[in-house]
Amino acid sequence: MRIISILSGKGGVGKTTVTANIGVALTMLGKSVTIIDANITTPHLGINFGIFNYPITLNDVLKGKVNSVVDAMYFHDTGLRIIPSALNVEELYGVDVMDLEKVVQKVPMSDFVLIDSAPGIGREAIAAIQAAQELLYVTNPNIAAVTDIVKVSEVAKRLGKKQLGIVINSVKRKMHELTIDEIEEFTGLPVLAMIPYDNAIEKALSLGKTVVEYNPYSNASVEFMKLAAKLAGEEYKPPKVAFIHKLKNYFASMI
Ligand SMILES: Nc1ncnc2c1ncn2[C@@H]1O[C@H](COP(=O)(O)OP(=O)(O)OP(=O)(O)O)[C@@H](O)[C@H]1O
Ligand SMILES: [Mg+2]
Repeated sequence: MRIISILSGKGGVGKTTVTANIGVALTMLGKSVTIIDANITTPHLGINFGIFNYPITLNDVLKGKVNSVVDAMYFHDTGLRIIPSALNVEELYGVDVMDLEKVVQKVPMSDFVLIDSAPGIGREAIAAIQAAQELLYVTNPNIAAVTDIVKVSEVAKRLGKKQLGIVINSVKRKMHELTIDEIEEFTGLPVLAMIPYDNAIEKALSLGKTVVEYNPYSNASVEFMKLAAKLAGEEYKPPKVAFIHKLKNYFASMI
């Protein structure tokens, strides 16, 4: 069982989007995957699957209100298992996020457990780092987001965690954006994927779907599938009708 936390220094760079999409993409590759929303103060993972009100959540597990973590586990159509956190602020009372590691250890056998972290190096993020064996960073190609990755990476190194590398998200290929080489040199970490800025992501979100389900041929979906294959140590197989869909996506991206 590989336990991977998805982290960033700066907020809003795409951690939840990456967690949800590689969760679905790995499931499509035949892996058993559980994703956990460890951003308990401002959780969004459940929302990414179109559900706002889960009767039992990670909060109940952390509070000891339910006997098993399985009680807070929901099955997506693809077979992906989701452990959401509660949106309601009252549900935060009595929660100690530092118990996350114990909860994660009790997740039923999965090939991958992906933990969607809060940004930064506060208690929630530290809990997500401690609960994982491996760390995957998400950044946007700008200096603020990349600088903050270095800060999280310093903490992670002190905690002795394996750092897989960086996903650069929302890439627009503008001149002012940092390049792969610059990001690798600045952080000392490898770049594993570049996910383009893609309107299909927001369209999918508005429908409560991941983009890899909504449009598997979109530019972002293809990169998510490549990243999932890389994490699983498998060869990426491109969709057969990709060219036609590439044309379609080109015109769709203008709308
Ligand atoms: N590649 C992309 N192209 C277009 N929109 C994107 C892309 N990646 C993420 N977004 C959008 O950006 C917003 C922020 O993404 P997301 O919620 O995944 O960030 P986050 O790092 O999890 O934020 P937080 O730090 O608040 O947890 C969302 O509305 C999401 O749909
Ligand atoms: Mg998030």
